[in-house]
Amino acid sequence: MIIVGIESSCDETSVGIVSNKNIVANMIASQDEIHATFGGVVPELASRAHIERITPMFNQCLKEAKIDLSQIDAFGVVNKPGLKGSLMIGVGFTEGIGYTLRKPVYNINHLHAHIAACYTDINIQFPALGLVVSGGHTTLFLIKNYTDFTTLGETRDDACGEVFDKVGRMINLPFPGGGYVEKLARKGNEAKIRFPRAYIKDSLDFSFSGIKTAVYYYISKHGLKNKSDIAAGFQKAVVDSIIKKIDDALKMYRVKSILFGGGVIRNNYLREKIQQYLSKKGIHVSIPEEKLCMDNGAMSAILTEYMIHAGLKPQPYIIDVQPTK
Ligand code: KG4
Ligand code: ZN
Repeated sequence: MIIVGIESSCDETSVGIVSNKNIVANMIASQDEIHATFGGVVPELASRAHIERITPMFNQCLKEAKIDLSQIDAFGVVNKPGLKGSLMIGVGFTEGIGYTLRKPVYNINHLHAHIAACYTDINIQFPALGLVVSGGHTTLFLIKNYTDFTTLGETRDDACGEVFDKVGRMINLPFPGGGYVEKLARKGNEAKIRFPRAYIKDSLDFSFSGIKTAVYYYISKHGLKNKSDIAAGFQKAVVDSIIKKIDDALKMYRVKSILFGGGVIRNNYLREKIQQYLSKKGIHVSIPEEKLCMDNGAMSAILTEYMIHAGLKPQPYIIDVQPTK
């Protein structure tokens, strides 16, 4: 079975192809250079870049995988959550091509797809916990099987990657700041500055904006002399609060595995701390390889294949939309 996955929810255009659960192609065009000068993603520019890139990328991806249009069995396209204009490009493109080829098109949840990036790991057992830490979301799931997700908690303010990016900006690092903050933190002493961690009681929700504000006040008072200690102290505060929430969730739910996804899980300090903490618990940990952590088409193709195996139905084609008056 050959599935094509499309992802255009934010600032990466991506097409991935999965053949019988193996990733045979996964092309990603990042827009970092377009948005860097603005210090954040500009939605209109993101949509325009998706329009320019999606068709050539689709053709190139099929060529690389040596797959002909007639061999495609189904499509999966991320349709939420994300930037509306960006999502529309991927959904419109996929609906059009699916309808033309008379092949099913599955709507894929962006966050569930980030978790599905772990499904190449054959040792996953359910029930599982899932945590997506990305630039737009921080969401904890209970996962009963490959396609059954229940949201247990999410951020009440900034997303985890968003605070990395905002703190990166405060210490004059390029956008997106996450990877640069991690690099700088390696040179710093994480024990030198203790930033407060917000903790929401009786809930599995997260909160990161307080840590960001604390960094802001620290810099206003002390300046940027010890940037690397600021980065290390900030990173530790974020990682500590993530681990505390996972700990709370594990007290409430008996799970066999824990699956991670999203751009922030590329952070090696976070990966190490999670492995260290979970190794004592005897729970299987699954973290995708780096390329599969960021927004990519293969993750939506993988989830589509599992949805097909679970007997889930594709959505009908949107061909009768009335123009708004
Ligand atoms: O999942 P993703 O590619 O896109 C969204 O769906 O948001 O995540 C992008 C986010 C950005 O905020 C970026 O700064 C962050 O992931 N990120 C990192 C690292 N690499 C990327 N954050 C912390 N440490 C990293 N090494
Ligand atoms: Zn994402």
